Amino acid sequence: MARKFFVGGNWKCNGTTEEVKKIVTTLNEAEVPSHDVVEVVVSPPFVFLTLVKGLLRSDFHVAAQNCWVRKGGAFTGEVSAEMLVNLGIPWVIIGHSERRALLNESNEFVGDKVAYALSQGLKVIACIGETLEQRESGSTMAVVAAQTKAIADKITNWDNVVLAYEPVWAIGTGKVATPAQAQEVHCELRKWLNENVGADVAASTRIIYGGSVNGANCQELAGQADVDGFLVGGASLKPEFVDIIKSAT
Ligand code: G3H
Repeated sequence: MARKFFVGGNWKCNGTTEEVKKIVTTLNEAEVPSHDVVEVVVSPPFVFLTLVKGLLRSDFHVAAQNCWVRKGGAFTGEVSAEMLVNLGIPWVIIGHSERRALLNESNEFVGDKVAYALSQGLKVIACIGETLEQRESGSTMAVVAAQTKAIADKITNWDNVVLAYEPVWAIGTGKVATPAQAQEVHCELRKWLNENVGADVAASTRIIYGGSVNGANCQELAGQADVDGFLVGGASLKPEFVDIIKSAT
C-alpha cells in the first residue's frame, strides 16, 4: 500500500499573532505538490489554532501540540481531545521528546494519550526517539521499540497514526541524522510493527523523521525507502518549509 508523504511543521512555543499570520501567508502563496502527493499539517501553539485554521489554505491541515490524556474536567491548564474535535482540529502531536523530558511524560502515559485522542476521532502524530546517551550505549532500537510498544499496547487501529522518529540528539541541534541512520531506524521500526502488530500496519503506517531537517538536507532524507516524510521544528517557521514540502516529489 502506497504511503502518502507527510510533512508536519511543529511551531512549538513560538510566534506572535503577526508572525503567525506571516507564516500562513507564505504557506498560502506557495506552489507545492498536490494533496494527492503530500499531506501537510502545521502545528501552532494552542492559542493560535483557530486563527491558523481560519486563514490556512484548505489543502493544508492543523494539529495541536498536545492534549489531555482523558475526558476533560478539573484539569487546570489542560486542553482536552474533545475540545480539539469541537474546534475542528483534526490532528494532534503526542509524546514529543520535549514533553517526555521536561514534563516527565512516560511511555505508558503517552500510550494512554494516543489511545484517548484516537478514540475521540483525532489523528495522531506519535513521537518517539532516543537520547544521545542511549544511542551511544547501543540501545536505540530497544528504546524506540519500548516507546512504540507502549502505544501498540493501547490501540488496535493504526489508520490514523503517523509515527515520528525524532532522535533527541538531533532536535534543534543542527546535527541531523544521516540518511543512513534515519533509514536504519525506520526500517527496524517497520520490522517491529510487522512482527508485533501486523503486516498491513507495517506496510501502511507512515514513519516520518524529525530532528534538524532543513531545506538543504531534506531531499536526501526523503529519498530513503522507509522515510515517509518529516516533522520539522525550527525550519517550519521559515520560508524553507516550502522546500521541505517539495521534497515529497
Ligand atoms: O517536532 C519537531 C522536532 O522537535 C524537530 O525540531 O527541526 O527544530 O530540530 P527541529
